[in-house]
Amino acid sequence: MKNYLVTGGAGFIGSNFIHYMLKKYSDIKIINVDKLTYAGNLENLTAIENSENYEFVHADICDKDAISAIFEKHNIDYVVNFAAESHVDRSIKSPEIFIETNVEGTVNLLNIAKTFWATGDDVYKEGCKFLQVSTDEVYGSLGQTGYFMETTPLNPHSPYSASKAGADMVVKAYFDTFKFPINITRCSNNYGPYQFPEKLIPLIINNTLNHNDLPVYGDGMNIRDWLYVEDHCKAIDMVINNGKLGEVYNVGGHNERTNITIVKTIINHIKEHVDSSVSETLIKYVKDRKGHDKRYGIDPEKIRKELGWSPETTFEVGIKKTIDWYLNNKAWMENVTSGQYKEYYKKMYGEK
Ligand code: NAD
Ligand code: TYD
Repeated sequence: MKNYLVTGGAGFIGSNFIHYMLKKYSDIKIINVDKLTYAGNLENLTAIENSENYEFVHADICDKDAISAIFEKHNIDYVVNFAAESHVDRSIKSPEIFIETNVEGTVNLLNIAKTFWATGDDVYKEGCKFLQVSTDEVYGSLGQTGYFMETTPLNPHSPYSASKAGADMVVKAYFDTFKFPINITRCSNNYGPYQFPEKLIPLIINNTLNHNDLPVYGDGMNIRDWLYVEDHCKAIDMVINNGKLGEVYNVGGHNERTNITIVKTIINHIKEHVDSSVSETLIKYVKDRKGHDKRYGIDPEKIRKELGWSPETTFEVGIKKTIDWYLNNKAWMENVTSGQYKEYYKKMYGEK
């Protein structure tokens, strides 16, 4: 029986990861610690919330006492750190909270895990590991050619990506200095169920369904490398189990698209299958994001070769599944956008 401390498990990727792991393994326990910021939503986890293999703790990863108490109570084998402030636009408006959660919170988790796992000087509990879930955005922006490799120098541009790069550097320092067992994954843009509708794909799906404007930043020609969220979860599972200690693994499926292509794909799918009255006239080009990275593109050769990872869901299949999920879960979207889910937390866990 392995015990996982998953942080930020009420968010988009964290909740998908919890579902993925509990479906795949019956001999694990997951403790999900989440602060339940605007991006954390316990409705994402209703299907498994009563499982014997799952426990939720409402706490901040910066809180020393709360995190120590989890390690006291559970014999944690792995930490998978998803908890973060994750939206670039918010980081441009309010950088401080990004440094607090993404850097200071990660350092707090590292320190507590190191204390509880130490069995001697630079020696740790057998098989334990700290996995830092990072992003390709730490590498900065690409020109028209080339890809991000694990050896590409970090060159973040937004407060969000700078905070993720800072956390990555501290995680690596714990390996270099203390031989603390870590891996870092750097994945490209994810899409799929349970993504908060401030991010491009769920925002465009929701706005198209509601006949609202579709804001496209700048000329719409910025490029992102999209990966279906379950393929990211599969990569994290593989890195936890087989990743070589101290290593970074890039995760991506060579699926680069311009933003305007993504927006038009969503409109066309909804027009064809859901509502024939929507059209590209909904598109509104708006002021560009400050410091907007032009292109991201991952070279996933290392994780493919060393761990045998490859993506299973093509973009054509993944985007249909995603649109269908949002169509079939309109109440989820309504709750998230109206803030009603806060009431759900209060009912379940009281005020905090
Ligand atoms: P998200 O914003 O949907 O979820 C973040 C979760 O962390 C939320 O549940 C939130 O309540 C929680 N949280 C925030 N601050 C916290 C704190 N101080 N203590 C405890 N919990 C806190 O984010 P996501 O898109 O699911 O991203 C998860 C991780 O994956 C992040 O670290 C992000 O940098 C990384 N990542 C995301 C993408 C992507 O495309 N979304 C791609 C690569 C990497
Ligand atoms: P986003 O989903 O915020 O992810 P990230 O900035 O982390 O890559 O944005 C994806 C791309 O879509 C990015 O180039 C910014 C662009 N974008 C828009 O054009 N309009 C929008 O309303 C949003 C949220 C993003």
